[in-house]
Amino acid sequence: QTLDMELEAIEKGGYEHFMLKEIFEQPRSISDCMRGRLNASTGHLMLGGIREYANKLVNADRIIMIACGTSWHSALVAEYVFEEFCRIPVEVEYASEFRYRNPVINEGDVVIAISQSGETADTLAAMELAKSKGAIIFGVCNVVGSSIARNSHEGAYTHAGPEIGVASTKAFTAQLTVLTMMALRVAHRKGSITERKYRELLVEFEQIPAKVEKCLELNEDIIKISELFKDATNFLYLGRGYNFPVALEGALKLKEISYIHAEGYPAAEMKHGPIALIDEEMPVVFIATRDSSYDKIVSNIQEVKARKGKVIAIVTEGDALIPKMAEFVIEVPSTNEALMPLVSVIPLQLLSYHIAVMRGCNVDQPRNLAKSVTVE
Ligand code: G6P
Repeated sequence: QTLDMELEAIEKGGYEHFMLKEIFEQPRSISDCMRGRLNASTGHLMLGGIREYANKLVNADRIIMIACGTSWHSALVAEYVFEEFCRIPVEVEYASEFRYRNPVINEGDVVIAISQSGETADTLAAMELAKSKGAIIFGVCNVVGSSIARNSHEGAYTHAGPEIGVASTKAFTAQLTVLTMMALRVAHRKGSITERKYRELLVEFEQIPAKVEKCLELNEDIIKISELFKDATNFLYLGRGYNFPVALEGALKLKEISYIHAEGYPAAEMKHGPIALIDEEMPVVFIATRDSSYDKIVSNIQEVKARKGKVIAIVTEGDALIPKMAEFVIEVPSTNEALMPLVSVIPLQLLSYHIAVMRGCNVDQPRNLAKSVTVE
């Protein structure tokens, strides 16, 4: 018993919980994921596990992404990246819905199955179904040798290392890293982005681990914000564009481990429902970094302020406007908008972690949840 406890303490590497350790590991896990695959100075970008079927991806008429939970959120981000840079239509599917729907799969469709564990029963069944209809399957898994990895035609590991905390953190950012590398590789091969843009993105991409490191320095500020909001009963998370899936992920992290009811929404959809919930009791987290939808999200912040909602805004460093409107502002380094989710999700992971700890929750093993859902 005491030996087990000591072993666990060693595995946690001085952190109070696995989740916190895994959040802080991200600069390294993202670099590990890029290692040997991406080199901005030479323009090299190559995923060793995708060879024989690489052309299928480049020439795909459509990409269908299948996943559950947090992995489904990384698919949503990847949808934006693939569509923007590769000009290939993407559909993102909950594995559990896809598999029971008699989905239409045509020749020229490619499936990407995304799973940290590689064992999620619905994802595995959905990918087998797609395979039986003739689709080529690429697996994006963290666990080496897992069922989804073994049963895919080809794929790429996320190499984030073992993730113990039930709420996924470093596996999510590693999935984003792999999927973005895949998309940029395809875009370059297809010629759907210019050489200049491609090179520019690789340079930005390589700086992501350092930018994530800077976000981790926000930990103390986030603890203070968590103190103030730990007793909230509801939270709303809003974002647009690339930050919309980040809003979903922020809300999921909070509900998973703190048991606070939280909803993520595309900010513009707020007026079709959630705006009815806003009053002085409602914390609203805006992911409002400087990007092509910045002006729009600023108006959404004003709409929340007009209804006395409490705004916590994730903004780009140096933003002069939003700090005048929001109660709390968390500044993250700037990057290309397609890469921003890798940066903007970090403060949300920390926020949910600290709130859950302050509420006395078991953050590594939240009630009713399992790390890997191998039953339906
Ligand atoms: C469970 C876990 C989540 C995870 C989801 C999908 O719900 O608690 O953290 O995102 O399954 O798991 P997978 O291993 O397929 O990514």
